[in-house]
Amino acid sequence: MPFPRDDSVPRVAVIGFGYIGSCIGVTLADLGMRVTGIDRDAATVEAFARGECPVPEPGLAEAVTRLHGSDRLAFATGYAAAASADVVLITVDTPVDDAGGLVPGPLEAVCRSLAPLLRSGQLVIVKSTVPPGYTRNAVLPMLESGGGRHGTDFHLAFCPERLSEGTALAQIRQLPIVIGGCGPASAEAADAFWQGALQVPTRVYPVPEIAELVKLADNWWIDHNIAMANDLARLCDGYGVDVLDVIAGANSLPKGNGNVNILLPSVGVGGACLTKDPWMAARSARDRGARLQTVETARRVNDEMPEYAARTITDQLIKLGREPSGAVVAVLGAAFKNDTGDLRATPAAGVVERLRAAGARVRVFDPLADPAEIRSVFGLPAETAWTDAVAGADCVAVLAGHTPFRRLDFAALKERVADPCLVYDGRAYYPPETIARLRELGFTYRGVGR
Ligand SMILES: NC(=O)c1ccc[n+]([C@@H]2O[C@H](COP(=O)([O-])OP(=O)(O)OC[C@H]3O[C@@H](n4cnc5c(N)ncnc54)[C@H](O)[C@@H]3O)[C@@H](O)[C@H]2O)c1
Repeated sequence: MPFPRDDSVPRVAVIGFGYIGSCIGVTLADLGMRVTGIDRDAATVEAFARGECPVPEPGLAEAVTRLHGSDRLAFATGYAAAASADVVLITVDTPVDDAGGLVPGPLEAVCRSLAPLLRSGQLVIVKSTVPPGYTRNAVLPMLESGGGRHGTDFHLAFCPERLSEGTALAQIRQLPIVIGGCGPASAEAADAFWQGALQVPTRVYPVPEIAELVKLADNWWIDHNIAMANDLARLCDGYGVDVLDVIAGANSLPKGNGNVNILLPSVGVGGACLTKDPWMAARSARDRGARLQTVETARRVNDEMPEYAARTITDQLIKLGREPSGAVVAVLGAAFKNDTGDLRATPAAGVVERLRAAGARVRVFDPLADPAEIRSVFGLPAETAWTDAVAGADCVAVLAGHTPFRRLDFAALKERVADPCLVYDGRAYYPPETIARLRELGFTYRGVGR
């Protein structure tokens, strides 16, 4: 008998307790479910089991501490808990190769380990991002290879994860969930689970391909929109106007179901998803004889932004009478976006690499990121305090606008930096009052399109 079997609180196994798995698993445990986080990485499992949180998402460490020692959150490297779970969520990484094709290893390994354990009544939900058709044509047969039959024994659905790092925990409890069942009964079972677990709106489809394409379309749209914002920023740089004024004006136009909604420009697009999902869409299209030129263009525009940002900084230093070679640049914020410590594909690395190639002496400070990871990604030691990072700096480059950087004591900053000093706003989006204050204090201010 398929899920839900009765009114009891479901037992949930989350396979892949990395960024997404831990955010979802911890949230479900916080809501009263009995969750086991399964990960092949023993260091990850051991850290969570000790009550530590290796994933740098705001609020997650506090929730892990809260749940530590309770019977609602357990961890394992083995799959035994998946056999006894009512619902199995799959949240392993799904990287792509250079041609945008899925690297299937992690997901295949999960399916092959899970297949012989599946028992009657279980619901399996794939949350990892996959190309259209993969849940039905690859995951389903792999799961059935253990002898269980989809529909009669277990149910299978694809439900994309659409949260945004930095605000993940709040978003899990709010975002509408898209459900693509392998057939109506699987869709219904997944809908019942999510409605019971999170009470958020759902969009339910009886085929997984729609939900798989929804995920790719969302990230394709975001990447494309940011590429337009970045191009608009370059245009505004040519006219000496603030791109944020232009965006605010442009976004006041009603269009479609809402308004024009140009997102914010920045030093580039990074992270594990926006840099790969559009390529997954392009590759899937190519397999069907179509070419997604908007994907190619947007990816190129966004990939060029670190170089554009570094050039803006070096040009501005020269205007201030400071040769980039030997100039001290203090980078505040190394992560790929604001208010996360995630360094995966961070565009800040590209900015730093180009500044160092120009001879600048770069220091990197990010209070949210792991210092060992900073060293490995940037090839530089992590500064331990912003006050040390900025000492004598010719440029303070805010490349991830974490909340503390948006509230910096600029008078105290001025005391520590060189004179003149450039403040480069890579994505702090300082408001006009802050920019006026910076200029009043004697800083030169530049941003992306500002
Ligand atoms: N990070 C995001 O913001 C985000 C947002 C939406 C969707 N996604 C998608 O969610 C999925 C997971 O992304 P993530 O950022 O959490 O990745 P991640 O790399 O942080 O976590 C994946 C985890 O899976 C584990 N794993 C891999 N193979 C395993 C196996 N065979 N058995 C057990 N554990 C295994 C890894 O050790 C790792 O801890 C990806 O498909 C990604 O595209 C991510």
